[in-house]
Amino acid sequence: MILQIIDICYLVAVVLFIIGIKLMSHPDSARRGNGIALSGMVLAIVASFLTPGLNNLILIFIAMALGTVGGLYFAKSVQMTAMPQLVSFFNGMGGAAAALIGLVEYGDLPVTDIGKGAVLMASLIIGSISFSGSMVAMGKLQGVIKDIRINKILGFLVLAAAVGLAVYVLYAGEPLPMLVYLLILLALIYGLLFVYPIGGADMPVVISLLNALTGVTAATTGLLYDNKVMLMGGILVGSAGLLLTLLMAKAMNRSVSNILFTSFGTASGASAPGQSGDQVAKEINAYDTAILLAYAKRVVVVPGYGLAVAQAQHAVHDLEKILEEKGVEVLYGIHPVAGRMPGHMNVLLAESDVPYDKLIEMDDMNEQLPNTDVVMVIGANDVVNPAANDDPSSPIYGMPILEVNRAANVIVIKRSMSSGYAGIQNALFFDAKTRMLFGDAKKVLNGLVNEVKNM
Ligand code: TAP
Repeated sequence: MILQIIDICYLVAVVLFIIGIKLMSHPDSARRGNGIALSGMVLAIVASFLTPGLNNLILIFIAMALGTVGGLYFAKSVQMTAMPQLVSFFNGMGGAAAALIGLVEYGDLPVTDIGKGAVLMASLIIGSISFSGSMVAMGKLQGVIKDIRINKILGFLVLAAAVGLAVYVLYAGEPLPMLVYLLILLALIYGLLFVYPIGGADMPVVISLLNALTGVTAATTGLLYDNKVMLMGGILVGSAGLLLTLLMAKAMNRSVSNILFTSFGTASGASAPGQSGDQVAKEINAYDTAILLAYAKRVVVVPGYGLAVAQAQHAVHDLEKILEEKGVEVLYGIHPVAGRMPGHMNVLLAESDVPYDKLIEMDDMNEQLPNTDVVMVIGANDVVNPAANDDPSSPIYGMPILEVNRAANVIVIKRSMSSGYAGIQNALFFDAKTRMLFGDAKKVLNGLVNEVKNM
């Protein structure tokens, strides 16, 4: 009877996970979705305590308390721009947990159970790769680990050795703990070799892929314990991670193999404001920008990574409110990969209570741009780079962009002429319609608020 109650709780928990994920696909319902998925997780944890014969309760509670305190602390203190690092860290912990569970279970396994043994070996290898790979990805995003070129063949040899060892251990017919430690070590080394050579800027995609791997290890652990909620939760994480990886690659118009096996996104150094090589961009000051904005019928803001770096989301909302008081319609053009993580701009603008109906997705916005008086590009670069449309030799060629030069005027707010994520120059800055307003996005926007107020 008790086992049936546990199974029903697990089933309800999985349904709650799925509803939660569905609701998270829209900013309006994302918070609710998170709450619903959380309640599913609480139900799954409570139900697992009903398992007959559960022991080591004190240790379990200590581990849960440590995890809860650590998780709360990190989640509360993390900066918005450091969110990808935190996701990478949490993901690495998931991989490590799966590998450690595999290690503990290895001792208890009958040597002859090849099926369970294979699942356990998969947990050990994939969990270890996910752990070490995620730690390198976190270090790269934080800027403390640089890109290192490593021959891909070396990585494949190490992985092949780990898999070969796993097969040997599986069929040896006797426990071989030292070889299991060695295969964990090889898998950890493969995780390092896999992520080290990938460009730092591609880390969000790598993290999403490693997240999918952690999902797979959670699923294999579920198989080991015959725990249905772990199995289904793992499958959900694995498939969501894989889908997200493919969607990000598609939005950048690059293949996943191109992202994983070529170096991309080495940012160039900063150049003097207004100048890049022989080309000189036209500048504008805050006063003239304020006049342009205040007398416009429609202004479109295109936010990018720099808005997040400057934490200028409140300042841009203040400017929006003050312009709307003057009868100007203000909308936001949202590119699917603006910033450094999926939905980055939506989350950022939601923080400052920008109404969701003002956030217009790229394709719809491109249609509205010819009827727009001023586009303000704030800390965005690649997502408005016309090379994506006209230069077949450009690394971003084919990536869909916000075609801001369809509007009557373009103001670009950034600190210098330096490139963005893709490390390439942007012809938009030299377009006849474009004026550069140099400075940190938050300072510039606060200045514009004052100028518009004084009009
Ligand atoms: P980027 O192309 O990275 O450009 C950001 C610009 O912000 C920079 O040129 C920088 O110029 C400016 N900036 C930085 N700090 C600033 C500050 N404090 N104030 C004002 N400006 C500042 O950003 P984007 O246009 O959002 O494009 C995103 C890129 O990331 C795309 O290439 C995309 O493919 C890639 N990517 C995105 C994702 C996801 S899921 N979003 C995942 C992986 C990769 P200055 O230094 O001159 O100020």
